Amino acid sequence: MTVDFKKYIASVQDFPNKGIVFRDITPILSDGEIFRAATHELAEYAKKRGADVIVGPEARGFIVGCPVATELGVGFVPARKPHKLPREVERASYDLEYGSNSLEMHKDAIKPGQKVVICDDLMATAGTLHAAIELIERLGGEVVGAAFYVELPDLKGREKLPNVDIFSLVQYH
Ligand code: HPA
Repeated sequence: MTVDFKKYIASVQDFPNKGIVFRDITPILSDGEIFRAATHELAEYAKKRGADVIVGPEARGFIVGCPVATELGVGFVPARKPHKLPREVERASYDLEYGSNSLEMHKDAIKPGQKVVICDDLMATAGTLHAAIELIERLGGEVVGAAFYVELPDLKGREKLPNVDIFSLVQYH
């Protein structure tokens, strides 16, 4: 099925702050066929990259990444906001298009040498992606790709991470 995913993304002016156009992907999720199609596209990409495991940053990376992992029959590892994971963690901080935050992963979540594809809903400045890569590499994993529903190329995320293979379903300029 060839899908025009932009038909299922709502653009919201001045959310959460004035001057930001928020790309809301929830209409993809609420349509079973479209959610499955989006998941399938990301899963095909992750398979092609040889993913052993999917990492998804909290919170929308859980929604996007979990079905990709189950379609491929590989594991899913959450990268969480601080103080959520109960065991020993690694932490990395990052800046967002608006604001900043940190991500944590359990120290034993990735086995050394595992090939990882990171999944999330949207790449803006690539701050979240940068933090996730730092964590995965500290744990001994190899990031073989990153897959998104939406990319905002004008924020130049790819240029900040020239060595990372990046896939996105749609782009907004
Ligand atoms: N939509 C969703 N998440 C985001 C956006 C957006 O436009 N920009 C930064 N994070």
